[in-house]
Amino acid sequence: MKQLKNLIMKAIVYSNFGNTDVLQTAEQTKPLIEPNEVLVKIKAFSINPMDWKIRKGEMKLMSGSKFPKHTGADFAGIIEAIGSSVSNFKIGDEVFGVVKNIMKEGASSEYTAVPSSLVWKKPKNISFAQAASIPIAGTAAVTAIAKMGKINSKTSILVNGATGGFGMFLLQLLKQYGANVTAVTSTKSIEYAKKWGANTVIDYTKENILLQRTAYDIIIDLSGRLGYKNAKKIMKPKSIFLNPTPQPIEIPFSILKNFFTSKKHIVVLSSPGTSHTTILLDAVNNGLDIEISKVFPFAQYKEAYQYAEKGGYIGKTTIEIN
Ligand SMILES: NC(=O)c1ccc[n+]([C@@H]2O[C@H](COP(=O)([O-])OP(=O)(O)OC[C@H]3O[C@@H](n4cnc5c(N)ncnc54)[C@H](OP(=O)(O)O)[C@@H]3O)[C@@H](O)[C@H]2O)c1
Repeated sequence: MKQLKNLIMKAIVYSNFGNTDVLQTAEQTKPLIEPNEVLVKIKAFSINPMDWKIRKGEMKLMSGSKFPKHTGADFAGIIEAIGSSVSNFKIGDEVFGVVKNIMKEGASSEYTAVPSSLVWKKPKNISFAQAASIPIAGTAAVTAIAKMGKINSKTSILVNGATGGFGMFLLQLLKQYGANVTAVTSTKSIEYAKKWGANTVIDYTKENILLQRTAYDIIIDLSGRLGYKNAKKIMKPKSIFLNPTPQPIEIPFSILKNFFTSKKHIVVLSSPGTSHTTILLDAVNNGLDIEISKVFPFAQYKEAYQYAEKGGYIGKTTIEIN
């Protein structure tokens, strides 16, 4: 009986698309590992907007409609078992990582089995909740910077929606390039945007950025509310609009559209591999700030998702499992 109990774990799952009401806990069998995988006992996982977009059926083309589904893509925890071909980790290592298929799998359970290539040692100076916040939002920020091309102190960059998970990493990484960054936030987040390196901050509750007389070399829309069509009004003749919230149809269309305009529309998709994560780990070692707005206990998972979906938080929201 005791042995059987050890094979069972609790998980957050859903069996229909919908709002937070569809989320429920379930008992599931602990995953088995392949030779190249590690079994991680999860201590924390982070909430990303992608979680509720998938849960609401807005990304069906990529997520598919197979149920039950887990939620939560990035996690941190302790290695409990290692596959026969894994040599770079040992049982007991504190790690953070991301599930293999972020559209179809989730880390919302007590254990997850993932390839060792998607797990990294947790820096000692950050908590499990902070480490779990890195893979999706952090690597999206690194990818966005790579798509910006050459940037220097003369490059003007508008970050619209600058103090959520993605913006927190982006502002701090951009600071290293000395770019001229304008952050758009609500009133309560102004001090954070400044602290994270913005040269100018615009409060969107008081000013309409489309009515300014400034034009930018690069605009990234993290709020998903500006859109390329509007952004073009405040883009320089040769400039870039970065879109991390594309509709699936926009992905091939953006390539086509760019042949006919010098105001380029470029899609950003995070890629949580080792090269991007190494950049983030270096930044963490150099004091990158990972702000966690709130850590919820596992039992309050519905409240956690409601809190995150309502918005208005700074940095990330995470769930802890004891
Ligand atoms: N493509 C990818 O691989 C990828 C990866 C990660 C994230 N994303 C996407 O990128 C977006 C941002 O992610 P996130 O994790 O940073 O989300 P988030 O934490 O929810 O942040 C969204 C930000 O938008 C701001 N905002 C809300 N209304 C606004 C408005 N009218 N004007 C300007 N800013 C406004 C919010 O500020 P206040 O709280 O101050 O209102 C908040 O700072 C999401 O849509 C997410 O799905 C994409």
